[in-house]
Amino acid sequence: MQQPPVAHVEWSSRLAFILAASGSAVGLGNIWKFPYMAGENGGGAFVLVYLLCVLAVGVPIMIAEILIGRRARLNPMDAMGTLAAQHGRSGVWRWVGLAGVIAGVLIMSYYSVITGWTVAYIGKSVSGAFNGISGPQAQAVFEDFISDPLDLLLWHTLVLAVVLGIAARGVAGGIERAVQWLMPGLLVLLVALVCYGAATGGMGAAARFLFTPDFAALDGQTVLAAMGQAFFSLSLGMGAIMMYGSYLPRQAPIGRSALIIAALDSGVAIVAGLAIFPIVFGNGMAPGEGPGLVFVTLPVGFGQLPAGGLFAGLFFLLLLFAALTSAVSLIEPGLAYLTERTGRSRGQAVAIMGSAIWLLGIGTVLSFNVWSTPWLAGRTFFDAVDYLTSNLMLPLGGLAVALFAGWALPRLATDDELQLDTPRLRRYWRLLCRWVAPAAVVLVFLHAIGLLG
Ligand code: TRP
Repeated sequence: MQQPPVAHVEWSSRLAFILAASGSAVGLGNIWKFPYMAGENGGGAFVLVYLLCVLAVGVPIMIAEILIGRRARLNPMDAMGTLAAQHGRSGVWRWVGLAGVIAGVLIMSYYSVITGWTVAYIGKSVSGAFNGISGPQAQAVFEDFISDPLDLLLWHTLVLAVVLGIAARGVAGGIERAVQWLMPGLLVLLVALVCYGAATGGMGAAARFLFTPDFAALDGQTVLAAMGQAFFSLSLGMGAIMMYGSYLPRQAPIGRSALIIAALDSGVAIVAGLAIFPIVFGNGMAPGEGPGLVFVTLPVGFGQLPAGGLFAGLFFLLLLFAALTSAVSLIEPGLAYLTERTGRSRGQAVAIMGSAIWLLGIGTVLSFNVWSTPWLAGRTFFDAVDYLTSNLMLPLGGLAVALFAGWALPRLATDDELQLDTPRLRRYWRLLCRWVAPAAVVLVFLHAIGLLG
């Protein structure tokens, strides 16, 4: 089989990899999606299942993705294809990589639209639109905003152009430098927000909501949603982390790096929840608000602070940067696939990916206004794309990766790649990757489609 030539750059250090991978993981998924998913799915029980999925399913699959990427040092499709060939396995494995590329395009199509909302909200914040605003007023501002398809399309187009512009120039140097500043900045602002939440007195209710599991609220769909969110938030199941892993220097321990990334990612999600729910409960809003949750609550919270408009603007700006560092990782496997497999230039690859994403994004834009009637199995276009990717494609992609690393690759090869981690960590990983993670994904699926009580 012919191997594509890949100029293989490396991250400048292990820290650079950890920052870039957490830059991919920490994004809209933590601050926009996690709180509203927890809100819609009953709070504590969802959070508990989510954390279990991160530990027992997410971390082992993240280790598997990094390991596969670093061993092959190729884009996901060729990484899996080449390793499969090397170890006498079926060529079918390469299609897992292709499915990942498609999932990336689908996710990016709405990721770009929602990132557009954060850009619009930077402007609204600094222009003082939220000063002293009440819950219902913030709600009205948001509904008014998403009711205009042209406006949303404009922001979607702008964001996509910026992401494609970054991608066209290549990412290693740019990403590295950006995440060094943006990740710490985001953390500081989140902590400041939590302090504000604590000061306003809603913190007790928020913590109760997030940490008191009500198991009656759990059903197959909720558990599937929690698992899907774990995959989404950790950027797993589509080859993004595999791609980043392919740039990891040989002398970096994979297992411990994955643990750090997962801890950072979950930490930011929980802190975001602790920042947002005090505002929800303190202002008599509903936790099950849906995708608008952050865009309605944060303006109310900030609007009551001195210079709140400025801080709100800063917050949405940092959310934008977090989203950009994630978006770049969503399209990177697709770009690498197009340039390496079909011999197109990076510019052409950017144009192809960009057109597909832009067109699909229109569906999401319209599903918040003129096309908001449920259309596919009770879902709007946005809901359908989100469900298909987060709840189906990512867990299935992750399952395939776990089976590949746990069963198709010989132990000698995986141990060699993980040799910098302790023997105990390696043993746990193998057990989780071969049995626990695949079983969990399969059980959750059977449960969700109603085959198991
Ligand atoms: N993890 C990012 C977030 O939480 C989104 C993301 C980036 C992603 N790359 C991905 C999701 C790859 C799934 C797969 O916002």
